[in-house]
Amino acid sequence: MNIHDFINYKKENKKISMVTCYDHWSAQILNESPVDSILVGDSLAMVVYGKENTLDITTSQIAEHVKAVRKGAPKKFIVADLPFLSYRKNLSTTMDNVGLLMKAGAHAIKLEGADGNLKTISHIIESGVPVMGHLGLTPQMLNQMGGYKVQGKDNASSEKIYNDALSLQKAGCFSVVLECVPSSLAKNISEQLSIPTIGIGAGHQTDGQVLVMQDLLGVYLKNPKFVKKYNQLNEQLLSSFTQFNFEVKSQTFPSEKESYT
Ligand code: KIV
Repeated sequence: MNIHDFINYKKENKKISMVTCYDHWSAQILNESPVDSILVGDSLAMVVYGKENTLDITTSQIAEHVKAVRKGAPKKFIVADLPFLSYRKNLSTTMDNVGLLMKAGAHAIKLEGADGNLKTISHIIESGVPVMGHLGLTPQMLNQMGGYKVQGKDNASSEKIYNDALSLQKAGCFSVVLECVPSSLAKNISEQLSIPTIGIGAGHQTDGQVLVMQDLLGVYLKNPKFVKKYNQLNEQLLSSFTQFNFEVKSQTFPSEKESYT
């Protein structure tokens, strides 16, 4: 998959699948899967580092995870998130941050929102780096939004997201993530844009879907409404740890089979 395939998939009415990934072992498994693309998202601040939100993560930290993922999944198209404020200071700092992610092995970067970002996006693209946009619930705007809420529910905010999507396309984005917006709005945007939309909590009429890996694997007991669990990893992992503990204590592990003579 490359950025042209994103557009081709849309033209051919083929849906695009994307999963977040932050480490080498799960990247190796994704590499063997038919999933189209990987997002090394800033959600890693919460998922990997247990932070309360996505604000407290640096570009260098994300770059280290990109390196691990690229090594594990050399066949996949990898998008990396530019973290909070890393593209808002000045162009020179922005490009240093873009450089860190691309040199770490990303094929494209993603950044959140349109306001004040359009010139930056065009410059990044003109510098040879594909950009994925992100609208709707933009977690880096958490404090501005007053919490994690569905966006675009009233006419004014729905129109804003719609117009922002058009602006991102005009600025040169190859794709746009639509997070937590009403399905009807996501449908309208997807029909209007020639670049694909990737939805998360945006209904089924986007051109693709992205989920956080740990959400789809059922690592957490509680999930947002839009998550579908394709596994119950929480139960499976807990029972594996419990069984290991039991076998160590009861001296049934290691057996002859796991021992050297
Ligand atoms: O960081 C992330 O995981 C994301 C997805 C939720 C789209 O941006």
